Amino acid sequence: MDMLKERILKEASIMTEDVLKLDGLLNHQVDPVLTMEMGREFARRFAEVHITKVITVESSGIPVAFATALTLGVPLVFARRKKTLIADPDALTERVPSFTKGIVTDIMVSRQYLTPSDKVLFIDDIIANGDAARGLIKIIERAGSELAGLGIVVEKSFQAGGRTIREQGIRVESLVKIASLEGGKITFEQ
Ligand code: G4P
Ligand code: NA
Ligand code: NA
Repeated sequence: MDMLKERILKEASIMTEDVLKLDGLLNHQVDPVLTMEMGREFARRFAEVHITKVITVESSGIPVAFATALTLGVPLVFARRKKTLIADPDALTERVPSFTKGIVTDIMVSRQYLTPSDKVLFIDDIIANGDAARGLIKIIERAGSELAGLGIVVEKSFQAGGRTIREQGIRVESLVKIASLEGGKITFEQ
């Protein structure tokens, strides 16, 4: 997506050699027109698959997952970040470490919204090490749902997340791949 690459070059800033600030596009502000384009692109890439649900993790994955779900005409489910100590016996929970925040969080999805008859498309904003993604993939497996694949807006391909998930045999479609942030420069993969 050339439009997305242009916007990243214009609006992103390099925080460290492995973290890119994307607040203007993904993590603090959302451009509805650009986000709908992203959703249509994911829907196009998975058009031949009969998706019954789109799934993401709150919070920054929600706008693009919504755009995808709207285009496909299916519901969107977002995994919650558990903040309560009250156990929900009907919830599927996984503990995931967070790369940027340096903390561990629990994500959860109620079994009510993810069932063995679902074929799900997992949409997310950024993939780094893939810990959050692996947690949600485990939840999808434990629900007995089928995973059609992952749609990622920005894959940092110099980190292992996307590659290791593909090595598990899961389809991963990224709108842009960033090969490096070295030397204060954003280098896209060709
Ligand atoms: P992953 O499993 O999704 O690959 O990510 P990882 O655990 O490594 O990182 C956890 C959080 O850090 C995720 O956000 C992810 O989007 C974010 N992140 C990783 N690398 C970058 C980066 O270079 N830039 C930015 N802006 N974010 C990055 P999250 O905890 O799910 O939070 P939220 O944004 O969805 O609320
Ligand atoms: Na994020
Ligand atoms: Na996210």
